[in-house]
Parts: sequence; structure tokens; C-alpha cells
Amino acid sequence: MVDSVVNPAGERSGATGSARRGRESMGQFGALGLHLADARVEASVLGLLESVEAELRATVTSADPLVTEAARHLVDAGGKRFRPLLVSLGAQFGDPADPRVVSAAVVMELTHLATLYHDDVMDEAAVRRGAPSANSRWTNSVAILVGDYLFARAADLSADLGPEAVRLQARTFARLVHGQIAETVGPRDGQDPVAHYLGVIAEKTGSLIATSARFGGLFSGASAAHTEALAGYGETIGVAFQLSDDLLDIASESVQSGKTPGTDLREGVPTLPVLYALASDDSDAASVRLREILATGPLVDDALHAEALGLLRESPALKRARETVRSYAEEAREQLALLPETSSRRALESLCDYIADRTG
Ligand code: IPE
Ligand code: IPE
Ligand code: MG
Ligand code: MG
Repeated sequence: MVDSVVNPAGERSGATGSARRGRESMGQFGALGLHLADARVEASVLGLLESVEAELRATVTSADPLVTEAARHLVDAGGKRFRPLLVSLGAQFGDPADPRVVSAAVVMELTHLATLYHDDVMDEAAVRRGAPSANSRWTNSVAILVGDYLFARAADLSADLGPEAVRLQARTFARLVHGQIAETVGPRDGQDPVAHYLGVIAEKTGSLIATSARFGGLFSGASAAHTEALAGYGETIGVAFQLSDDLLDIASESVQSGKTPGTDLREGVPTLPVLYALASDDSDAASVRLREILATGPLVDDALHAEALGLLRESPALKRARETVRSYAEEAREQLALLPETSSRRALESLCDYIADRTG
């Protein structure tokens, strides 16, 4: 047995490249603070993730060289593989050697990948996973169509897993789209902006992470009760994950996130620190000035954008938002209570620490 907390290696794994994935590139999971205290579980999880890499690359290959190149672009750029990791950890509560587990993980990563292609068009993002986004490398049309192609590949693969997988993937995707639409449209008249925001992130991100954990239980033949507990945990840690991602958009540098910081501010997508800042009645000069700038909407002016980012980074609102992330991470941990106290559960718990700590 080894008791290892793999060395943190920075969050962005874009430079890792798929060729060196698997056992040699544990840094990828070290970046997630993953605690794998049992050599057998560690070997199982890494073996599953290695198979996911091979199947991912095979699945996105098309007869059309442009489609193959554009679809492989983000697969090769890296990413945390957080959803396949959750499938693999969830599968430890059943038989992780069930061949459906790898396919289920590939379906989840393909669905995620497709949403990234589309999201970067929506957000006009130039960088993703430390590489040029598909919309900037090619065009919006190519990015949208390749995203569609990836959804089609995910649907094809989930058909092999049976109608329940197809239904769950479709419903998850529908929820995710509703979240993206709700974010685009904004709160209804009279709706509390924070409640709206929390609903959006549960739909756009919690949905897929919940289904990833559920797929792990379901396709390894874990008990129904354990599978439900995994899905509940996935939903809550998914919300915490998006919250922390939104905080990183403000607090991190590009080298850490592999994305352009301040994208949400530029696009006028109000995330939790902004909502907290707008709602605060702090009367110090910095808070007043911050509210004044934020009230103007999307910050496309470079000087105003930089000023708002600087003020937000030092704001009480950001501190408060960090506390909210911690409370969701704690809630996710509590949802594991029903699961047996194994090293796999401990690994899931370590992800709660990672989420709570990654925003500082
Ligand atoms: C990015 O997801 C989009 C969100 C839901 C926050 P990830 O942070 O998992 O992105 P990759 O897969 O590591 O690139
Ligand atoms: C991404 O939301 C959610 C989905 C892709 C469904 P964001 O727009 O916050 O994610 P990033 O920051 O671009 O990764
Ligand atoms: Mg985005
Ligand atoms: Mg977005």
C-alpha cells in the first residue's frame, strides 16, 4: 500500500499532451490534490483513465481530416479529465473492471468537450486548455459543428451502453443547455440574482458532474443507494467546482487556468463575487468604486476591466464567495456519508479539499 498525495503540478495540464498521459503523468491528478491511499485503487483508477485516453482519441477520429484535426485539438490540449475521474472513482463502489465503465467515462468527457467548443463561441474566448480555442484557431462555424460532431459521437457510444445511458445523457445535456440559456437570458423580473446564478451553475455544470459520478456507480453495478449517493455528491461538488472556476476567472493568471482571466467580466456574465459586490453596502472607497464600475455592464474597455479586476481581487465580496465555495465543498463531503469508508471514499473527499482550496 502506498499513501500518496500526488505532488501539485499546477492546474493546467495543457502542456502534458495525451501521449504522456497515464501512469507517467500523475501530475495531472496531482493538480487535483487527489488522495489515493490504496495501491489497488490507484492502479484501477489510472488504468481506467489510460483506457479513456485511448478510446477518446479513437472515438473523435473522422473520415474528414479537418474534423479529426479540430476535434482532436482540445483532446490533445489536455484538461483535468475531472468527469472521467469521477466515473472511475464512482466505479470503485462496484466492479471497476466492468468494460462499460470506460465507455461511460468517454461519453461524459465527450459531452463536456462538446460544450467547451460551444461555450467558447458563446463567450468569445480565445484560449482554452492553454491552447487557442477552436473558434479562434478556425472559425465559429467550425467550432459549433465540431461540438455537434462530438455530441453525435457521445450519443453513438452511449447507445452501446443501452437506453438508460442514452436517456440519462440526453436529459443531462438538456439540463446543461437550460443552464447556458438561463445564463444568457439573465434573471427574470423580480428573481433574486444569486438564486438565479446558483440555479444556472447547478444546471450547466452540476448536471454533468452528477451524471459522471452516477455513471460510475451505475455501470460498475454498484448498489442503487450508493449510486444515488454518488450522484448527490456529484451535483454538489459540481456546483462547488463551477463556483471555484468563476472565482479563478477573477483571481488566477492564465498560466494556472489555461484560459483568459476576466472573461466573465468582459462578457458581462455576473458571477458570485460580482453579485456579492453589487449587493454589498460596504462604504469604503474601493467597494463604492467597484459597484460603480460593475453597474455599467460588460467591461469591454481595457482600463475599466483592469481596474474592476484589481478591485475585485482585493474585495470582501471575493472573500465571501470563497466561503460559499467552502460550504458547498463541505456539503458535498457530507453527501458521501452513506458510502462505505474506503480509500475510494477518501479520494472523493480529497476532491472536496481541492475545490475548497484551489481559489486560495
Ligand atoms: C471547464 O471545465 C468548464 C466548467 C464547467 C468550469 P473544466 O475546468 O473541467 O475544464 P477542463 O476539462 O479541465 O479543460
Ligand atoms: C462553462 O461555463 C459551462 C459549460 C461549458 C457548460 P464557463 O463559461 O464559466 O466556463 P469556462 O470558464 O469558459 O471554462
Ligand atoms: Mg466560458
Ligand atoms: Mg460560459
